[in-house]
Order: sequence, then structure tokens, then C-alpha cells
Amino acid sequence: MVGDMKGLILAAGRGTRLRPLTHTRPKPVIRLAGKPIIRYAVDNLLEAGITEIGVVVSPDTIEDIKLALKDCSGVQITYIVQEEALGIAHAVGTAKDWLGQSPFVLYLGDNLFQKGVKSFVEAYQPGISAVIALVRVPDPRQFGVAVLEEGRIVKLLEKPKNPPSDLAVAGVYVFGPVIMDIIANLKPSARGEYEITDAIQALVDRGHTVLGQEIAGWWKDTGRPADLLDANRLLLVEQKSPTPVIEGQVHESQVTGRVVIEKGAVVKNSTILGPVHIAQNAIVEGAYIGPFTSVGPNAVVRQAEVEYSILEDSAVVEDVPLRLHECILGVGARVTRRQSLPKAHKLVLGDLSSLELA
Ligand code: G1P
Repeated sequence: MVGDMKGLILAAGRGTRLRPLTHTRPKPVIRLAGKPIIRYAVDNLLEAGITEIGVVVSPDTIEDIKLALKDCSGVQITYIVQEEALGIAHAVGTAKDWLGQSPFVLYLGDNLFQKGVKSFVEAYQPGISAVIALVRVPDPRQFGVAVLEEGRIVKLLEKPKNPPSDLAVAGVYVFGPVIMDIIANLKPSARGEYEITDAIQALVDRGHTVLGQEIAGWWKDTGRPADLLDANRLLLVEQKSPTPVIEGQVHESQVTGRVVIEKGAVVKNSTILGPVHIAQNAIVEGAYIGPFTSVGPNAVVRQAEVEYSILEDSAVVEDVPLRLHECILGVGARVTRRQSLPKAHKLVLGDLSSLELA
């Protein structure tokens, strides 16, 4: 039931587990398989028929998020500033005036869903107050955990030490307007946040119908660096064409499999083995780009080998003797070969950077 349904994407988080990447930019703008993470959320909402989208940002993230969404078409985006990061329910409360009496899809801006959100939107029908996306995971202790009875949620716990089920709450929820009254009266949790989990439990306690619906396909919460690499892999595999889609220039190179080479990118004397995405104006020369790699716009890979990695905008890998594997290079990050003596590693690493030498 789409009707006047709105979409609310949360993008105000601090992304602490992804530092140093998130010291300078918010997590939802990190580019995976050619698109900022938050673009997948917008596209999934559009695909479900939702064209009015609110994005909750922090004063620190607003400019980067706006930039990441500047090319979105067919959608009306409103930015709502959450001054303090006080939890998901608090973020929703911040959007109260914009939401009005509309039902809405709450979408955590760092979550990725292979099959989108259409099935949850469709499950929201008159008489139902919420639909919660659930996913079975081996260890749900880091998530919200639900207990289901005949499709209805009867209990919900946030990050329980002893999970009562293996059903984790994935980051998509459909709510009717009644949730706003509950949020307005919510008390902060032990960790000092206004928890959406507590708000949903209150809905259940008041006798409202809250459906739990398992997701189809894969779901990824991009909390940690390993999650980013895995999400990038999953998204690259989804690239539609099984053969290379080449809009840039390719000279004397071997390009195989699900490979996208965007306009303005130049690939020379190289081997590209998909799935790989090479963004516009990137330069790949004398290089091997192996499976599950995203090369960002204006990035340079020269005389080097890279696989299972993410290179952000303008990152540089040049003349590096050993293959890079499982690497994430932020915007403008550089890995090059030292030209002068002494023969030693020369590093400039920001706070909380990590480097593992082979
Ligand atoms: C939040 C929710 C949690 C949910 C998770 C999904 O946790 O509080 O219930 O399972 O998102 O990504 P957070 O990742 O903010 O700790």
C-alpha cells in the first residue's frame, strides 16, 4: 500500500567502527560498485514507488550526503538535521513535522538489501501499525532481536546477551503514524539512546499489530571494514551484464566478466578480471585489477595489482611490488613505492589507520 507513503533515510551516524574512513566523511557516502551506499537506499525506495524522501543528517554530514545524492532524479529529497546523535527513535522524532500523518519506510542509510524494500511496503495494510524486516543470523547479539508468533512480533530486544531467537532486525521498518506518539513519550535506554526497538515494543505492548517479515536475498549492515568489502563483493556480483560494459577507453588489455568501465576511464596494458567496477576518469595502466574491486572516480592504479578492494575517489596505487588484497583506500589515499634511500617503509597514517604488512 504505497499511497502517501514517505521514505525516511537515516544518515546522521558517526560510523565509529569505520574510522579513519569516517573521520572525514559519513559512511553512507562510501562508494561501493560505483554508487554511494545511500544511493542504493534511494533507488530501493523509488523502486517501491516512494518518491518523497526525507534524509536525516547531522550538521557534520549534511554537505557530503547532499553531494552523494545530487544526481538523484524522479525523487523529492528533504534534508532534516538531527543536531545530536541520540538514537534511531530520536532521529525519527526529529522528522516529525516533515512526516506529518503519513505512513513511512524507515531505512537505515548504511544498510543494503539485495531485493530492496518493496515486499515490506506491500505488507503494510490497513490495521497494521508496523512491518519490521527480519533476517536469520548465526549470532544476533549485535542486533535487535525479535520473537515471532504467527508472523506477529510479540517481543523485541536490543542487542541482548542471550538472544531469544536468531531473528535479527534488519535496517528497514514500515510504520504507521501511531509510532510518533510513542516516540514522543520514549525514555532513553541504558546506553543513553532513544531506541527504535523500545518504541516498537511499546507498540506491541499496546496491542498494535506489528508484523515481522523475513527478507529475501542478502542483507548487509556496513558497520565494519570487512562488511564494506563483503558488501562491495555482493554488489559487484549483481552487475547486470555478464560481459564487459565499456564506456571508457580500453587499449591493449584483457577485460573479462562482469566489468563496468565508465566514461572517461582509461585502461591500458592491463588485465581486468571481473566482477570489477571502474568509475569515470580512473586510470588503470600496466595493472591487474582482480575480482571484487571497485576503483573510484579519478583513481589511479599503475604498475600494481589490486583485488577484493575498494579504492575511493582519487586514490592512487602506483608501482607497488606486492598485490593489494582486502584494502580500502579513502579519498585521495596513496600507496606508492619509495624512490629514495633508506630502503624502508615511509608512512603517514591518520588517527586509527590500520596497515598490515606482508
Ligand atoms: C540498529 C538497531 C538494531 C538493528 C540494526 C540493523 O543498530 O538498533 O536493532 O538490528 O541497526 O543494522 P545499530 O547498528 O545502530 O547499532
